[in-house]
Amino acid sequence: MFQKFLNKFSKKIAIDLGSSKTIVSVQDRGIIIQEPSIVAINNRLDRILAVGEDARKMVGKAPKFITLSRPLENGIISDFEVTEKMLRYFIDKIYREQVGFAFRPGVVINIPLDITEVEKKAVEDAVLSAGAGKVHLVEEVMASALGARLPVQDASGSLIVNLGGGKTEIAVISLNGVVNWKSLKIAGQTFDQDIINYARDHFNLLIGERFAEQLKISIGSAFEIESPMQMEMRGRDLVTGLPRELVISDYQVRDAIWPSINAIIEALKLTLETTPPELVADIYERGIVLAGGGAKLRGIDKAISKAAAVPVRIADDPATCTIRGLNALLEDSKLLEEVEVPSASADRIL
Ligand SMILES: Nc1ncnc2c1ncn2[C@@H]1O[C@H](COP(=O)(O)OP(=O)(O)OP(=O)(O)O)[C@@H](O)[C@H]1O
Ligand SMILES: [Mg+2]
Repeated sequence: MFQKFLNKFSKKIAIDLGSSKTIVSVQDRGIIIQEPSIVAINNRLDRILAVGEDARKMVGKAPKFITLSRPLENGIISDFEVTEKMLRYFIDKIYREQVGFAFRPGVVINIPLDITEVEKKAVEDAVLSAGAGKVHLVEEVMASALGARLPVQDASGSLIVNLGGGKTEIAVISLNGVVNWKSLKIAGQTFDQDIINYARDHFNLLIGERFAEQLKISIGSAFEIESPMQMEMRGRDLVTGLPRELVISDYQVRDAIWPSINAIIEALKLTLETTPPELVADIYERGIVLAGGGAKLRGIDKAISKAAAVPVRIADDPATCTIRGLNALLEDSKLLEEVEVPSASADRIL
């Protein structure tokens, strides 16, 4: 009864739990938290040192007794305890900053398509033990399609490609459900690693993860760009062991990441090949929609549309499509009921 009373007056929250970033929004207020999914742990004291942006600043700079953990790998929780602590930190932060917030708020959270029942239960348990009263699971592709304003409820095919940090999910959606899909462990973080490998193999230069990501964002592309770009690349010479700097061009970064981009394109073609023809016709008419942070890579739309011969559109503000879709579900309980994925545990708190 008391919980019912609290629920009536309390705000629900939406969480986009990502391999690269976690975004939290509160009903009626929008996005409150947007931080890297990284936790710094002091092993000597067995204590959390920093979470999110503060922890990210320590990457590549921390002494041995500090572990920097990314608790999600390819969209799946790889370290339950750290994920739970990270979520608790974010939920507590909202408690501190927001008035009228629930005692144990209802939470809507994303899950990947290829999740197992055990992994699904881990997400629910992590959210519940981080302070939530009730958990609703929604497939990330469904949330990002809603965020991109695709007509997911219609009897018509929409194809969404969510290119994140740890995974790329390709899904054909119709009548509030996923009809056909493919998931790849190739995404933004793979591109960063491709750039690290390229610098090592072509220039004997060791560069850090954060710098590789900066290179990708500053001069990376998936398709030839109009005005060439260059950037200084700093790292450690693997032969002399000394710091070295050289100039890298956009086409070299493109060469480095091309095999990964191509793998995504091939998976997309396969998805189209195995989709019922009526839905394929809708997709060709409407075009493919790209969402996720990776959709911001220069020319990714052109590369895909040329190789797959389908029109491609990048969603507005692609990196926040998932959270905007989840947030919309906080306001529409009927639609939430229709799209949410059944809980993995029978004893979920109701
Ligand atoms: N301007 C940009 N150009 C290219 N890549 C970008 C750009 N901005 C962000 N990214 C990349 O987008 C990725 C993060 O995307 P996103 O926030 O959608 O991932 P996530 O939701 O945390 O991960 P996932 O859904 O895979 O678990 C990172 O790899 C980041 O480097
Ligand atoms: Mg994501």
